[in-house]
Amino acid sequence: MSLNAERSYKMKLRDVENAFKYRRIPYPKRSVELIALLAISCTFFLFMHTNKLNSRLKEMEVKLQPSEFSALGLTGNHISGHDAGGKHDDINTLHGTFQYLKSTGQLRHLTTTQLNNTPRAQVDTLFFNRITKTGSEKMMELLKILGKRHNFEARRDVEGFYEVVNMHDAYAKNFIRTEVINCTKANSYTKHVAFLDFDLLDEPWPIYINMVRDPIERLVSWFYYVRAPWHFAERKEMFGDAIVLPSIDWLKKDFNRCIEERDPECVYEQMEMGNLGDHRRQSLYLCGQNMAVCMPFNSHEAMQRAKKNVEEHYAVVGTWEDTNITLSVLEGYIPRFFSGAKDEYYAVKKSLGNVNRNTYRPSLSDKARAVLSQNLTREIELYQFIRHRLYKQYIALKLEEDPKLRD
Ligand SMILES: *[C@@H]1O[C@H](CO)[C@@H](O)[C@H](O)[C@H]1NC(C)=O
Ligand SMILES: *[C@@H]1O[C@H](CO)[C@@H](O)[C@H](O)[C@H]1NC(C)=O
Ligand SMILES: *[C@@H]1O[C@H](CO)[C@@H](O)[C@H](O)[C@H]1NC(C)=O
Repeated sequence: MSLNAERSYKMKLRDVENAFKYRRIPYPKRSVELIALLAISCTFFLFMHTNKLNSRLKEMEVKLQPSEFSALGLTGNHISGHDAGGKHDDINTLHGTFQYLKSTGQLRHLTTTQLNNTPRAQVDTLFFNRITKTGSEKMMELLKILGKRHNFEARRDVEGFYEVVNMHDAYAKNFIRTEVINCTKANSYTKHVAFLDFDLLDEPWPIYINMVRDPIERLVSWFYYVRAPWHFAERKEMFGDAIVLPSIDWLKKDFNRCIEERDPECVYEQMEMGNLGDHRRQSLYLCGQNMAVCMPFNSHEAMQRAKKNVEEHYAVVGTWEDTNITLSVLEGYIPRFFSGAKDEYYAVKKSLGNVNRNTYRPSLSDKARAVLSQNLTREIELYQFIRHRLYKQYIALKLEEDPKLRD
């Protein structure tokens, strides 16, 4: 700023000051009272607000401090991330499940034995009937690593042009005999296939595991997965000319618009029997092979049957959305195959994280999410049921480590 400019700036400032000094504005008396009243109420509201903020802060301190959390093996960050909206009794969180079990008196009697299906297995085979788009490739990589550590053979199905998710009984029996239980040493077997009832087929039960994922996230994931360039490249390499490249317009589709425009690809009709190909039914993999019951989309009966199978026949159904809890539960309930899983996982996390990951994935709009949640109610309920069970299994482990948590 030059000297001249500075001077004129100062002059201007003075002019403004003077204007304030000498300009007397006569206020009517009423207005003065009004202003006073306003000032008082402002002070009062500010006081109220500060008070509210203060108690909110206190509340948050309480939330972040209880020893329960550290005993449950959670970090502060994890808690605030999940429980910060004041959802004290939301049973879809670990903390909410803990509070629920405590307030209903179940905490005192909860044991891992009640929740452990592993001892019911009749062969030394871990059967992972992996659900599509739940990060199962990552689990398969982990199984390979654990196989070396625990001396079991990590196997999978032969990759085919179609996934045989549904099997009639004779096919299923042959499949189990020749591929799943044909191994004498400890082993794991992985395949995209709907739940097989080994009792019905008169075959011995393996140790069942699976992974789930938020049903809406799964749909988004699938939508962009089938459009990913590497998905085509891989299939082209494997199946050659049988793979027909789709149109550019199709490849460029956006999921949010697909839903808004009611594009047939993005309509999820209730109880419909078709569209098996886009794997919209996570429940199918847990419900089983009875198509009349398990195929109708978002049906109550399919959900109930899936819940029953999970409860009675699965050792663990986990989710990468709760990686640490899932790995701890796998370690605790299936130690023969999974002890040390957490260490192994974190030792190679970087490379595991990238298996089959689609880096091109626009985010879902709130509007599209709202539309979808209306049509996926049972799928969502099943998913939440599974998470609740996983948390219960985890809490039971922690209770046995630290009995003081029971009171
Ligand atoms: C079991 O069957 C699979 C698939 O047919 C085969 O690859 C594997 O070698 C068999 N294992 C044994 C131990 O026979
Ligand atoms: C939701 O389900 C209803 C009833 O089947 C159907 O009419 C509607 O098109 C569906 N909406 C979406 C976005 O899938
Ligand atoms: C999960 O476990 C790892 C390794 O023990 C730890 O570094 C990480 O903070 C844990 N994450 C959460 C969310 O608790």
